[in-house]
Amino acid sequence: MAKAPKVKSKSKSSPATPQRPRIAIAIMAAGKGTRLKSKHPKVLHEIGGRPILTHVIATAKKVLPAENIFVIIGHEAERVREAVAGSGVKFVAQIEQRGTGHALMVAREALAGYDQVIVLSGDAPLITADTIKKLSDFHAAQQAAMTVLSADLENPYGYGRVVRKGAAGRDGGRVEVQAIVEEKSATPQQKKIHEINSGFYAFAGPALYEYIDQLSTANPHGEYYLTDMATVLHRARKKVVAIKTLDAGEVLGSNTRAEMMMLDARMRLAKCRELLDAGVTIFYPHTCVIDNEVEVGADTVIEPFVQLLGKSKIGADCRIRSYSVIGNSVLGDGVTVRPGTIMEDSRIGAGAVLGPYSHLRPGSEVGEGAHVGNFVETKKIKLGKNSKANHLSYLGDAEIGDGVNIGAGTITCNYDGVNKHKTVIEDGVFIGSDSTLVAPVTIGRGAYVAAASCITDDVPADALALGRARQSVKEGWARTKREAQKKTCRE
Ligand code: UD1
Ligand code: CA
Repeated sequence: MAKAPKVKSKSKSSPATPQRPRIAIAIMAAGKGTRLKSKHPKVLHEIGGRPILTHVIATAKKVLPAENIFVIIGHEAERVREAVAGSGVKFVAQIEQRGTGHALMVAREALAGYDQVIVLSGDAPLITADTIKKLSDFHAAQQAAMTVLSADLENPYGYGRVVRKGAAGRDGGRVEVQAIVEEKSATPQQKKIHEINSGFYAFAGPALYEYIDQLSTANPHGEYYLTDMATVLHRARKKVVAIKTLDAGEVLGSNTRAEMMMLDARMRLAKCRELLDAGVTIFYPHTCVIDNEVEVGADTVIEPFVQLLGKSKIGADCRIRSYSVIGNSVLGDGVTVRPGTIMEDSRIGAGAVLGPYSHLRPGSEVGEGAHVGNFVETKKIKLGKNSKANHLSYLGDAEIGDGVNIGAGTITCNYDGVNKHKTVIEDGVFIGSDSTLVAPVTIGRGAYVAAASCITDDVPADALALGRARQSVKEGWARTKREAQKKTCRE
């Protein structure tokens, strides 16, 4: 399709060259979503791990630059605006929400001057850029005043029905449309029509705004229906046509929580399919929760019941074992994540091994070939190459060098009740099991810390630090005690 030119051309070229049409996209997102029974606006409910509206905007941006995309907001407008502000789109306020027709009425000023206005529903996130382009191109080729994107649904209940010109319910190859009737207003005959209105349209901008004031609220909801533009324009002898999507799944809306869950499942399965096609193995994909923006390299294996969330990036040849939850983290190639590992905002070097049951909190950086094992919790740390913390530790606010061994049960005491302090463990250090390192403290390169030490002072390089009471042994003490106990029992 023709893109709107960035600069309005005062073309000096020959008058025979037609001006490229100026095209805008309007996304209707002002509604409350009453059927959800929610305090959150409908378009901010999540599908595929992010708000529904963000999907629609991302797709719209594949078709047009953000400056030509207008989002109509109303209910909880500030929250909606904030959630998508980074996208660069423009906003139109529909302070009172008096229907989809009214949404376009309030956008009149913003959309004036566009030759074509594509209207998208902010609650239907599966639409593809390809389908929007087809709608736009078909509309242009037909030189229509209004083009409806329609679909054949086995169960059309609840959707507006497309009434083709001539014979209601049977398109018979006709492209022209005379009306769209909403479920509540449809006659029993019209309810049998399986061709539904998707809620996506292309309008000729001038025709839309010349006739939009003819919409009325004489319907069961007392709202201005955008769908009635079909009748209005048809009566004015303007051309109204429909084009059917081949994949009816693309136009499904999310009016109820049940519909949302269906869309979520569809989107996630589509994501899995995309990853499978890219060379990733996913066992039992329907048990995995993989967000839309996640990337995974080839030959990585994802076991059942894994969650890959947010903007996580998983390298190639990794194995992500069951019950692991990875959020906004970056994993290099060949990483093994054993079962039950939980990770947030972390970076893992190639060949590292994590889990089972490790908890990597934000800011954990694990070096190449390093190991973080059972019940180890980390936060804001750097663990160097090939270093190992295999069992039962808390490592927070620490910089740990390469080739370090952290014994089982090691704790960094990073918090004094007011401030956080840093622990530095240099290359090649050996920390014996059950040591407590009271920060701020530095353990010099190649030093040893004896097991069960409480380290409060810096340890120089290559030294041995012992921070525990000396062991004392009382020979025969236990035997004497047992005999004394036996004697009292007999008495
Ligand atoms: C609408 C269509 C219906 C179609 C269906 C497809 C109308 C009257 N009906 O019904 O024919 O089959 O979509 O999904 O248009 N919105 C506003 N301002 C308002 C009202 C709604 O911006 O004043 C927004 C909503 O936030 C939503 C979109 O418009 O994103 C559609 O509104 P919704 O109430 O969901 O319409 P449907 O009942 O689904
Ligand atoms: Ca809807």
